[in-house]
Amino acid sequence: MDNNFLSPQRCSKVLANFLSQSGLHDSGDNSFIFYDIGFLKLGISQLQTSFPASALHAIALKANPILAVIKKLPAFGVGLEVASFPELHLAVAAGFDPEKIVFDSPAKTMAELEFALAHGFRLNADSFAELDRIAGIIASKGNHGEVGVRINPQVGSGTISITSVAGDVSKFGIPLRDHKEALQEAVFRYDWLRTLHVHIGSQGCPLPLLTEGIKKVVEFAVELNNRLHQKGLSKRIHSIDIGGGLAVNYYQSANWISFEGYAENLRREVPALFDGSFNLITEFGRHIHAPAGWVASRVEYVKREIGYTIVIIHVGADLFLRECYHPSDWHHVISVTDSKGRLKTGRAASPSLIAGPLCFSGDVIARDLYLPEIEAGDYIIIHDAGAYTLSMWSRYNSRQMPKVIGYEGDEMQFELLKKREEPFDLIQFWS
Ligand SMILES: Cc1ncc(COP(=O)(O)O)c(C=O)c1O
Repeated sequence: MDNNFLSPQRCSKVLANFLSQSGLHDSGDNSFIFYDIGFLKLGISQLQTSFPASALHAIALKANPILAVIKKLPAFGVGLEVASFPELHLAVAAGFDPEKIVFDSPAKTMAELEFALAHGFRLNADSFAELDRIAGIIASKGNHGEVGVRINPQVGSGTISITSVAGDVSKFGIPLRDHKEALQEAVFRYDWLRTLHVHIGSQGCPLPLLTEGIKKVVEFAVELNNRLHQKGLSKRIHSIDIGGGLAVNYYQSANWISFEGYAENLRREVPALFDGSFNLITEFGRHIHAPAGWVASRVEYVKREIGYTIVIIHVGADLFLRECYHPSDWHHVISVTDSKGRLKTGRAASPSLIAGPLCFSGDVIARDLYLPEIEAGDYIIIHDAGAYTLSMWSRYNSRQMPKVIGYEGDEMQFELLKKREEPFDLIQFWS
């Protein structure tokens, strides 16, 4: 097994095995989302061994909210980062304790805040207005939670603007440069405010940008604690939450940064994060989930035009929303198998366009690819597809979500992690 990539050989072997076994698929299936549970565990253990053992790794639920998958995670000692109240309930349903759940949302209501504080969740306030609400609730009802505040370190944007959140202007967090004094006052005023939180962006953020953002926030925390110390007061900031954002190697390029490389770099550049001064919290999502998932979708039609081939499959912008709407930012390695899951090799004379089933012309997963010769009934495999795919599922054209199949190890015991939607489910959805 490659360290960070489920290769075409590996995936086709799994697909062939799966298709040859009866029981978990039928004629109504045109696509499958596969999840390699062993690979997921490998990612978690790489994360845990890279950072101090005491760190809380709150894996971002938004990357992959499939309940049967996240139910497997508490056993590894990790937590979850949730971005909405329903996600918080999903995390509880999956068996996570409140103190391992980090509630981040810029739109928390009074009722949500009251619930989180009463039941011992961790939460990061996104604004001064939210801090004021929290102060009011704590004054009247007490606090069982752990409260942090999200800081925008204003270090600039990465290469993907819509997933970058640390520019001069961002809808998230309190801008550090613009509000340093007020932030300091808030930390001094509220003795329950014990965590500083930062998240720079998701994918497209180079290592120096991630590091610089975290460094700014850690330096601020050290400065605040030192000021308190000088006044004879005890330390206030106990935890630093560094968010997520480590990029996935979608292009399978050589200079890929692993959790280990990231942690090593932080250890060098921001030593205070590792010397025991702070509890460390992380919120990685993409880097954990994307490499563990892949999609196999059956080719329904092939249109051979002059100079190019159009391949129609059963997933498109419904499952690969970002890839279709922002193709220049997002990419997946694609491979091809025959109808039995056997890997196809070679190179067709003309390039292929892999198109989804939806009713708009942008519903294209990949263009200008020189793939093997493709025919109806083959499968197109889309690699590194375990994050921000099903969680961003689009209802346009009301297509059915495919089944999600889990497997582990070489024995490949397959399990149904999520049922395929039926037309009835769509009627229910729109009723
Ligand atoms: C606050 C926060 N934490 C963590 C994440 C996870 O980021 P990634 O999946 O890139 O690791 C996100 C993603 O948008 C986020 O907004």
